[in-house]
Amino acid sequence: MSRVHPEGPGDQPDLGTRAASATRPVLPPRPDGDPGLVDRFGRRAVDLRVSLTERCNLRCTYCMPAEGLPFAPDAALMSADEIARLVGLGARELGIRKVRFTGGEPLLRKDLVDVVARSAAAHPDLELSLTTNAIGLASRAAALRAAGLHRLNVSLDTVDPDVFAEVTRRPFLDRVLEGIAAAADAGLGVKINAVLLRGVNDHLAADLLAWCLERGHELRFIEQMPLDPGHAWNATTMITAAQIRDLLAADYSLTPDEAPRNGAPAERYRVRSRATGADLGTVGVIASITESFCGDCTRTRLTADGHVRSCLFSDDETDLLGALRAGADDQAVLDRWRRAMWAKPRDHGDDTDGLVHPTRGMSAIGG
Ligand code: 5AD
Ligand code: SF4
Repeated sequence: MSRVHPEGPGDQPDLGTRAASATRPVLPPRPDGDPGLVDRFGRRAVDLRVSLTERCNLRCTYCMPAEGLPFAPDAALMSADEIARLVGLGARELGIRKVRFTGGEPLLRKDLVDVVARSAAAHPDLELSLTTNAIGLASRAAALRAAGLHRLNVSLDTVDPDVFAEVTRRPFLDRVLEGIAAAADAGLGVKINAVLLRGVNDHLAADLLAWCLERGHELRFIEQMPLDPGHAWNATTMITAAQIRDLLAADYSLTPDEAPRNGAPAERYRVRSRATGADLGTVGVIASITESFCGDCTRTRLTADGHVRSCLFSDDETDLLGALRAGADDQAVLDRWRRAMWAKPRDHGDDTDGLVHPTRGMSAIGG
């Protein structure tokens, strides 16, 4: 996080021609002239998640119902050109440093390589990554790397084929593993994201860690969040970060990594074998619910239909794509984007069970 901005109105910074109305939040002065994406609580977004599609070829039980969800029609989605324009504006004018393409399943976009190439061309210093389930990655990993992609996060909750089929409702583990291997061969850094579900794959947490350590892929366990459209999430049945550490403790000793997190959501641990004492690598635990890291959040999101969503858990969205298609110039788009960021909520809590269950699920918002 950078500096704390005063709350309340200040001089309007260089936002182009639009004046702030009484109902819009007014941005504070920027003493350093930096017109980045800042909010009322002093946080700065440098990390942009761009959802490319709401569709997916898996049906992970914590994300989608078995029958799927109504998807936005293709015409409502941002095109490669529109994505590149927004990514370029974000990078050049708003201080965005990293872009992660998500979904849904981004590999379902036929023009994914083009999206990556155009976004890479929009700014030379952007770090580009992809969150994917890796199905179909084998044939495109090299092209994605050549287009400018740096790294991948692959969602993989278990390496047991039967359990994989139970979690994702599809028997596609082989294709996922093939995709991961191809990505590593292509020189793409691979991290694995796993969600543990009680009584389904939690007993296999240590096996998954062993599999990742052997292949040099950093594994991050993510606490299950209430982002399933079926609203089946339950605070009392979810596996907490503390329980995740306990599940690994029989086989591994974990010591917190001292390196600064810099807004990264994962708490990282060095992993040592209990049997041999050998240092085997690292594991991350993302305690989105029990050890919330909202105060250090550096993220903002674009949904596949081009709405700014500054928090996963807030239904507040600002339509950038509509503005773009209505002919808005760059300054008007930037103004909208900055205003949306300014309105970002402090955290994802409310006064009841501590969490708001957003209307859109993860596959629609973009992970
Ligand atoms: N809780 C936690 N993680 C989730 N993901 C999808 N839905 C949820 C949820 N309800 C994960 C996916 C993917 C990443 C984008 O988010 O497994 O790795
Ligand atoms: Fe698809 Fe990812 Fe949702 Fe699983 S978690 S259904 S892979 S979008």
